[in-house]
Amino acid sequence: LFTAVEMAPRDPILGLNEQFASDTNPNKVNLGVGVYFDDNGKLPLLQCVQTAEKALMAQPTARGYLPIDGIAAYDNAVKALVFGADSEPVTSGRVATIQAIGGTGGLKVGADFLKKVSPDAKVLISDPSWENHRAIFQNAGFQVDSYAYYDAAKRGVNFEGMLASLNAAAAGTIVVLHACCHNPTGYDLTAEQWDQVIAVVKAKNLTAFLDMAYQGFGEGIAEDGAVIGKFVAAGLDILVSTSFSKSFSLYGERVGALSVVAKDAEEAKRVLSQLKIAIRTNYSNPPIHGGAVVTAVLTNPELRALWEKELGEMRVRIKAMRQKLVDGLKAAGVQQDMSFITTQVGMFSYSGLSKDQMVRLRSEFGVYGTDTGRMCVAALNSKNIDYVCQAIAKVI
Ligand code: LMR
Repeated sequence: LFTAVEMAPRDPILGLNEQFASDTNPNKVNLGVGVYFDDNGKLPLLQCVQTAEKALMAQPTARGYLPIDGIAAYDNAVKALVFGADSEPVTSGRVATIQAIGGTGGLKVGADFLKKVSPDAKVLISDPSWENHRAIFQNAGFQVDSYAYYDAAKRGVNFEGMLASLNAAAAGTIVVLHACCHNPTGYDLTAEQWDQVIAVVKAKNLTAFLDMAYQGFGEGIAEDGAVIGKFVAAGLDILVSTSFSKSFSLYGERVGALSVVAKDAEEAKRVLSQLKIAIRTNYSNPPIHGGAVVTAVLTNPELRALWEKELGEMRVRIKAMRQKLVDGLKAAGVQQDMSFITTQVGMFSYSGLSKDQMVRLRSEFGVYGTDTGRMCVAALNSKNIDYVCQAIAKVI
């Protein structure tokens, strides 16, 4: 039965973790996957999460099945976070939110749902984009193309190209947009550029699917989320996937969400019924723990404030490491101007290094980034930064 099964290539991001784990280089540094490590190179367990978990453990509960769409209080907390508790779409009941298995799960449920609603639509992802975007939408049965996004020469967004791509898209095309902290480039649109994108999405009758996996890592929770309000204010029906993997450092709990903004409450009910079918036929219903922790934090004012503080500390440390990287590369003898690294936001730096250089970084120095030149600056710390700078300087 399986004799003709081909060996699939390693995942371009998670596959690096496997390679990293088996690397015996004592100086190895993993800048491959988008995971935040603290200055001691440790994965943080946030205080807000620990406090919430202690409270949950003090009152142990039996583990029945959750509803297909997850913990109701969680879905409401996500709505409040993404759209604002008092926002019109939330108070009028026209947002359908489901608890998903991470942000990836939110994208997959959304993709399966859209395939039923718009079976012939094409999907456009940014060029470049998170590698899994293409795979998720292709596996849901869509043809996936890309819209212009990155300008390598300018080291920034090719905004004219992006607008041209969107203007050329057929009505009904699904456009996957990074709400903040673009993965992999680290270059976001300005507020004015978002306004122009929204105008094209509206004029051309495109469907916007916003992936918000890094809320809080750019400028702040409210600042990073503001783009969602702009789409809503424009009267657009949108999909938003949310991930708490990074913002709560709960990677392994797979806690995320999908929100769909519909025309009215009655339409949202019908949408929710279809989302539930997508969930039921993929994994039946979500697990409890991660959702319970996030609910406890988001719905308790003290824990919520603590979360914002802890998330802010992660954001500030990443920005400091960007500056240290720029300074360290200069000190290590890199001639070219690397200050663009501090103009990028979020966890990643699109370094501009070639595939050959990235492979050399791995094989000669044990410094892991993706083949595309993406490095996770959130994994740099005061102990590994000099080594990483020396290694990059050598391959440059
Ligand atoms: C990444 O881009 O490294 C993260 O989003 C992790 C993943 O699932 O790929």
